[in-house]
Amino acid sequence: MTALWGKVVGMSHRYVYTWTKGSYKMSGSRLQHMCQLDIDADCHALKRTSVICCIGPSCDSVDILQQLIEKGVNICCINMAHGSQQQHRDTVDKIREAESLANKKLPKRVAIAIDISGPAIHIGKLRSELGGSMVLKGGDEVRLTGDATYRDSCDAEHIYVDRDELIRRAVVGDTIFLEDGPLSITVKHKGPGYLDCTVETEGVLQDYDECHLPGMLSGKQTLADKDVDDIVFALRNEIDMIFISWVWSSRIVQLVRRELGIKADEVKVIAKIENYEGVKRYDEILKVSDGTIVARGNLGVDLPPEKVFLAQKLMIGRARRAGKPVICASQMLQSMVRNPRPTRAEAGDVANAILDGVDCVMLSGETAIGKHPIKAVETLVAVCQESEAAVATETLFRTLRQVTTLQQDYTHTVARTAVETAIRSGAAAILILTSSGRSASLIAHYRPPCHIVAITRAPQVARSLNLHWGMLPVLYEEDEVESWAEDIDRRIHHGILISADHGIIKTGDMIALVTGMSPGSGFTNSVRLLVVPELDKLQPITNIL
Ligand code: FBP
Repeated sequence: MTALWGKVVGMSHRYVYTWTKGSYKMSGSRLQHMCQLDIDADCHALKRTSVICCIGPSCDSVDILQQLIEKGVNICCINMAHGSQQQHRDTVDKIREAESLANKKLPKRVAIAIDISGPAIHIGKLRSELGGSMVLKGGDEVRLTGDATYRDSCDAEHIYVDRDELIRRAVVGDTIFLEDGPLSITVKHKGPGYLDCTVETEGVLQDYDECHLPGMLSGKQTLADKDVDDIVFALRNEIDMIFISWVWSSRIVQLVRRELGIKADEVKVIAKIENYEGVKRYDEILKVSDGTIVARGNLGVDLPPEKVFLAQKLMIGRARRAGKPVICASQMLQSMVRNPRPTRAEAGDVANAILDGVDCVMLSGETAIGKHPIKAVETLVAVCQESEAAVATETLFRTLRQVTTLQQDYTHTVARTAVETAIRSGAAAILILTSSGRSASLIAHYRPPCHIVAITRAPQVARSLNLHWGMLPVLYEEDEVESWAEDIDRRIHHGILISADHGIIKTGDMIALVTGMSPGSGFTNSVRLLVVPELDKLQPITNIL
């Protein structure tokens, strides 16, 4: 590849950094960067964007879960709106078993998230002979009812909805969307405890679909009893993160934290933004959350579809600026629920989210109820790898540096320096020792062009770090040795070996090593560059340097 000016000092596959007249430059403008993209260039061998998948009947077995993990899933999400707590407990056990089987081949930590319903309204389960779904055609007559007799036996004549409020608030002429469309019904008649409706846009109705009356969800947010039960479930089962559906105020995030009690610092609380109000109050929500999800399915019902990309971009941008993980979700590879290949538009949509800077991409129906869950993950991973190689890393780093106010905090300063060091040295990885995960997440904030290998002794920290872009969390499980320096050496060696197993580094590569001056959280204060020695001859780090 020919540099535009000066001597080439680093390359991120498709992107050239040069050093000229005493300053560090990247290959020109965004337009130049786009013109230089090459469809024959190698993509990254390993993805950096985290993959989240929703668990459902299509993947609820140890064997399929193991395959999903081996193909690249980092976080498994259980939707608490569907099924009983006993079923969810079984799913948690299966995920953990699948993780430990996958771990025997290649060490990898997988997080478990639960998605709590918040104020979302769901239909019941369809009559068993309908096999979980039924087609509703334009003009069909259907009845929505609050009568719990139909909770597990819905059909077109009686579709149970789990909150009476929908029936109370809907008026004749209103359009109600099922799931996130296209299926929609119009209210024709309102009776005591029911709504008679006509299908306006045909579509497939499935067990537990969401029911959405645009504009209905607003005002003061409260935690439903079911949400509180689900949070207790999270605590009892060591769940790593809670996704809260339908967040439009910071209050609900704080209420969830209050329920978490002493675990509030460990369990990550992630807000799903699904309506107009949530977008308008995004800054307030972002401030109190550990991360956010751009839930485009419902957003596309609450906002005109042509506005959804604006909401997506503004949320990704602000989350990046704040250094908080942001997840793009809903309909990412929707057609793969049925087909083995995505549409070109879907692949492009995923790529754009990655180019904009999301930390994670999320599959919903594709893995939960789709015909091709494994293929969907493989496809998503392939799109991640191609898109990540096309990110203008240096521009991104420079922008992030400009917009982030440096606090008087040396962990933050060191994180920034580590990324700059990795870019300039062409390091294959940044290895970081972390207790709470904070040092590693600060490095992820600045988006290095290489992997961040975060070595920790805390299992929950290792799992939760999957929320961040570019992270390989490594759990160090050996007992502490008497000498702290020796213990540090052992952990670094372990990180080097695991990174090599993953194909992130090899002998002769440069790595940036980030460590602290004393035990405990908050003392990260140094970045060192070192060349990876022969892997069977690892020596104390002090000798390698
Ligand atoms: P420990 O020996 O306590 O694990 O600390 C090693 C270390 O490098 C510390 O020096 C540093 O403060 C810490 O890791 C970073 O942890 P955190 O990211 O939580 O600040």
